[in-house]
Amino acid sequence: MKMAPELKRICEVSELEPGSIKRVEVEGLPPLAVYKLDTEIFITDDICTHGQASLSEGFLEGDVVECPIHGGCFSIRTGEALSFPATLPVRTYKARVVGAEVFLEITA
Ligand code: FES
Repeated sequence: MKMAPELKRICEVSELEPGSIKRVEVEGLPPLAVYKLDTEIFITDDICTHGQASLSEGFLEGDVVECPIHGGCFSIRTGEALSFPATLPVRTYKARVVGAEVFLEITA
């Protein structure tokens, strides 16, 4: 039997500016970076896989985030490391909007 996904509340949609990144802490998960494009929302771990940098303090160019420390880039859709010195992917999470709120979907 397929289990219903667990939803963790992240924030209000209205707290996210298009083209911006917000750092969010949710119990039981590492710090998260929440990205808002025009109509889409993405979630990754906040900490860069190359060092102790916060991706939410980085720069968002379309669906690519650039780390503020060494400039490594990641796809916010897939987590793929796109440019040196970032080589390991950052973990991504599924975002779901329900009404005016953003949730992170955890599937067992
Ligand atoms: S800490 Fe992010 S690229 Fe080095």
